[in-house]
Amino acid sequence: MTDDVLVVHGGTPLEGRIRVRGAKNLVSKAMVAALLGDSPSRLFDVPKIRDVEVVRGLLGLHGVKVTDGTEDGELVFDPANVESASTDQINVHAGSSRIPILFCGPLLHRLGHAFIPDLGGCHIGPRPIDFHLQALREFGATVEKRPEGLHLSAPNGLHGTKFALPYPSVGATEQVLLTAVMAEGVTELRNAAVEPEIIDLICILQKMGAIIKVHTDRVIEIQGVPKLHGYTHRPIPDRIEAASWAAAALATRGHVEVLGAQQADMMTFLNVFRSVGGEYEVTDARAPKLGDPGQEGGIRFWHPGGELNAVALETDVHPGFMTDWQQPLVVALTQARGLSIVHETVYEQRLGYTEALNSMGANIQVYRDCLGGTPCRFGRRNFKHSAVIAGPSKLHAADLVIPDLRAGFSHLIAALAAEGTSRVYGVDLINRGYEDFEAKLADLGAHAERP
Ligand code: EPZ
Repeated sequence: MTDDVLVVHGGTPLEGRIRVRGAKNLVSKAMVAALLGDSPSRLFDVPKIRDVEVVRGLLGLHGVKVTDGTEDGELVFDPANVESASTDQINVHAGSSRIPILFCGPLLHRLGHAFIPDLGGCHIGPRPIDFHLQALREFGATVEKRPEGLHLSAPNGLHGTKFALPYPSVGATEQVLLTAVMAEGVTELRNAAVEPEIIDLICILQKMGAIIKVHTDRVIEIQGVPKLHGYTHRPIPDRIEAASWAAAALATRGHVEVLGAQQADMMTFLNVFRSVGGEYEVTDARAPKLGDPGQEGGIRFWHPGGELNAVALETDVHPGFMTDWQQPLVVALTQARGLSIVHETVYEQRLGYTEALNSMGANIQVYRDCLGGTPCRFGRRNFKHSAVIAGPSKLHAADLVIPDLRAGFSHLIAALAAEGTSRVYGVDLINRGYEDFEAKLADLGAHAERP
């Protein structure tokens, strides 16, 4: 643990320009989709993050040859020799990511059986996989839970089905898509998640030869096809990372340009950012031509000076305010005058990190009640899932231990905003989702170093 610490000298506004690449929560799924093709796939703008390494390792174990392409961030997947891997080999990746659960459908199609290790990911609630398993059974898969992991088979093949999700889960929607595209017949998924990363996954599958209709009211219809080919794709940029740096700019009274950030995917965040009192400017991309070097698109975020405003917000599925935007923004809300309210409706235990902020001088109270109007599954179940943030608070340095990815980034922002020197332990966890974050911090003028 002692090596895994960042010493942060806070109090300096972040100033400068950084770039975000392909969205972590799309890239890893796009990599899994490559398993379904009968020819190579090519993915661009792949960030160097831990989740990508885990999926790359799992694909390799299943016979998919993964090589670096000629462009920085380009990966090429050759699925010509898909094969079974031993449970021991697969279990090396146990507990390291949640993506392995999405291998079910593709492996069942390619091999007729699948073994899925224990999942990992952030500890932000129980994170069950019941919707995934229920959907797979509907397709005709047999699922056996054993101590070492899940064993699946499809003795009679996979068949299209009508299925309604109890909640618009991102992962379960992806599970259905990755399974239905090659299942025999038509699948109708109701109450599907429609996050931009899901729409981008649908674009990839469509490029591979799938037939998928996205209807209104969260209904997705998939007509199974007998075979798919490889794809070439440049993924949507990471809107969670972009919002995290935007929140860091606001909390440190700085000015950060996030190249690659896309307005359309961040509309809800931008509305809240402006309501809090932050300023932003969208720069559209312009292709180079004679006499004009062109311009890379992005969004500039800054603190305009003066005081920030308190706001009330609720996290929700798309097009609502993302649960992953919540933790970084709350640090900025500690600097706003008045009472801000945050109602977390996606995960039941995603406010634990506020204790660390309180240890730095913030004034945040968490409640079991639903402090918002969005119908939520947690109020009656006694989870502390609403927060009231009283501000502005002067943050002071502290020793912090990072609990999970997004909370970790919020700890980092708090340390950057606080007066004095903080020690942030467990920072390697941030590498799961933020590419080169230490180099980016340096580019933005932060004073942070490994001891
Ligand atoms: C994805 O997780 C993201 N992860 C999460 O990002 C993100 O917070 C989440 O979607 C919501 O946007 C990846 O894409 C790898 P869900 P996922 O299934 O798919 C319940 C990050 O930091 N549920 O939409 O696992 C679940 O418990 C991560 O980048 C069931 O009850 O999220 C939760 O309350 C963290 N049963 C809710 O649904 C199930 O079978 C939403 O989860 C599945 C989910």
